[in-house]
Amino acid sequence: MTTEHFDKAAAEWDKKSHRVILAEKVSTAIISLPLSKQMSGMEFGCGTGLVGMDIAPSLRELIAIDTSQGMLDVLQQKVQDQGITNIQTLCCDFSTDNYTQKHDLIICSMTLHHIKDAKGLLLHFTELLNPGGYLAIADIITEDGSFHDPSAEGIWHHGFDPEELTTFLTGFGMEDIKNQIIHTIVKEELKNKEFPVFLLTGRKSS
Ligand SMILES: C[S@@+](CC[C@H](N)C(=O)[O-])C[C@H]1O[C@@H](n2cnc3c(N)ncnc32)[C@H](O)[C@@H]1O
Repeated sequence: MTTEHFDKAAAEWDKKSHRVILAEKVSTAIISLPLSKQMSGMEFGCGTGLVGMDIAPSLRELIAIDTSQGMLDVLQQKVQDQGITNIQTLCCDFSTDNYTQKHDLIICSMTLHHIKDAKGLLLHFTELLNPGGYLAIADIITEDGSFHDPSAEGIWHHGFDPEELTTFLTGFGMEDIKNQIIHTIVKEELKNKEFPVFLLTGRKSS
């Protein structure tokens, strides 16, 4: 799934109820973290902001990052329509742009499987967190490759093993890592096959 794919999908993105439901589950779980209006947050692969717009009221600011300007335009329009002042959108590719701003919360929802060097990105997240800052990663549990259409491009991972990610993140100074299944996506077109979605949260050591 290329940037072009997401640019084209952007206008209709929020009309699919399964996406809205999943984003609500992700944001509800993240809001239960001890967030505060002093915190700076960043959402990587924010899309149209289905998750980030729920979280932003609990923060001082949310930097909403994506490589698809089309997705960001939809988010920007919602931000403008609702008079939201603490979300800034940023079209940025971490593989080519040098992003160094530090944050107290980093969110990555349903985007990690689109990243070839997923562990490299997780490491970068740990470097971008302030001491005591929180990381929240939501994605599909390791699956057999049927989750995405076979023609889809840019799918680098068929989900993840959250235990493996936990071990990896622990090695880079993340503490209090909690792994929970927050939702199960059911694909009717695959005879109601179930794809559990995990949310991994952790705190950078102070
Ligand atoms: C499946 S959507 C998830 C959107 C949103 N996080 C949500 O939960 O509704 C994946 C998003 O990741 C973005 N994306 C893909 N590769 C990216 C990259 N290398 N850097 C930043 N964003 C990326 C896509 O443009 C798309 O908006």
